[in-house]
Amino acid sequence: MEKLVIQGGVPLSGEVRISGAKNAALPILCAGILTPDPLHVENVPHLRDVATTLSLLGQMGVEISLDEKGVVSLTAARLNNRVAPYELVKTMRASILVLGPLVTRFGEARVSLPGGCAIGLRPVDQHIKGLQAMGAQIDIEQGYIHAKAQRLKGARLVMDLVTVTGTENLLMAAALAEGTTVIENAAREPEVVDLANCLNAMGANVSGHGTDVITIGGVSRLHGATYRVMPDRIETGTFLVAAAATGGEIRLKDTRPDMLDSVLSKLIETGAAVDNGPDWLRLRTNGHVAAVNIRTAPYPAFPTDMQAQFMALNAVAQGTSIITETVFENRFMHVQELRRLGADIEVEGNTAVVRGVRTLGGANVMATDLRASACLVLAGLVASGQTVVDRVYHLDRGYECIEEKLSQLGARIRRAR
Ligand code: EPU
Repeated sequence: MEKLVIQGGVPLSGEVRISGAKNAALPILCAGILTPDPLHVENVPHLRDVATTLSLLGQMGVEISLDEKGVVSLTAARLNNRVAPYELVKTMRASILVLGPLVTRFGEARVSLPGGCAIGLRPVDQHIKGLQAMGAQIDIEQGYIHAKAQRLKGARLVMDLVTVTGTENLLMAAALAEGTTVIENAAREPEVVDLANCLNAMGANVSGHGTDVITIGGVSRLHGATYRVMPDRIETGTFLVAAAATGGEIRLKDTRPDMLDSVLSKLIETGAAVDNGPDWLRLRTNGHVAAVNIRTAPYPAFPTDMQAQFMALNAVAQGTSIITETVFENRFMHVQELRRLGADIEVEGNTAVVRGVRTLGGANVMATDLRASACLVLAGLVASGQTVVDRVYHLDRGYECIEEKLSQLGARIRRAR
């Protein structure tokens, strides 16, 4: 199994490019199912989750081509298999995103139930309830969601809770439904907005995206389009925290500062200086990091996908901080590993109390999920001596060329078997 070996203690400095957003690319690739015409998707990051999505679409009969610029072209003219098998869904929960597109365009889908994962139970009841309200007949058979419908009908969908992929699945389903669908208590995440913009480029009639009420006027056919995936706000935030934690100065290009308000205001609260243009960000530190309290919640509040990285930052900050995780019930798996590096953290329910220590010391640690892995890499960059982060495959799901980008910023990091 591959590992990352890090010699810590080097302040990061320099410039890197931010990749396309994983969590926008995955639903946008699945939107390719909605039309028989080619969908050309630009700025698709090279990630394991993208590869998994492409093999899922490929085994359904979607024709896929990749050019040297990273543009992925999908043609779902001859899709002949409407099944997302357990073997793929268990490696990537986002496979559930084929459910809405398959049932709305082809009238049938069989998608394996995702089951639990490292960060929590993560049910998909809201996806199912929404499709049922639009007229789909849904049975759970042998661990699979079997959805059938003639043509879905527009409906008023009031979500019980804010769900990102749930909103995305229903948005795609409603795009080809008969009549108007209104999704209330919809997710406002920028990735939902990116998907809606892509659907509109394909001829859909979506409005209100970016607010908690999205209205979709169903159309009978969508056409092909060329669409560029937005920059990854979580990758952006992760590099900024890495610079703040190591006492460095970095510039990130090809990103979008306007999607990061809650993260940037927390970084400024730590004492970092942040400035930006429309597509770049620069962060400088004065060597002191003040501890900051964090409470995760749906966008535009502080993202759960940045919680672990801020835990690493707070672990070496001045003062004590309280981190409250409200989105997932079990997203503190990194705490045990941070303690192995010398962090002083106590967990009570969904709250962690982090007492900043002067320094961390390198050790062998094990990654448990994507963002927990990022947190351990950041801690390793700060720690004195050598840190070995095992199970790097988690990181490869969501960070493109992480060790190359960190090396470019001066980090001493290498991959080993
Ligand atoms: N939930 C339900 N029922 C549902 C759907 C969700 O109870 O039908 C619960 C979940 O269990 C969770 C909460 O609602 O407690 C929010 O989950 P959500 O559905 O919003 O999460 P998701 O759509 O499965 C996406 C991202 C995650 C990110 C979350 C929250 C993708 C592919 N994944 O997951 O990204 O943490 O939204 O912002 O977009 C990551 O990139 O590391 C990652 C985990």
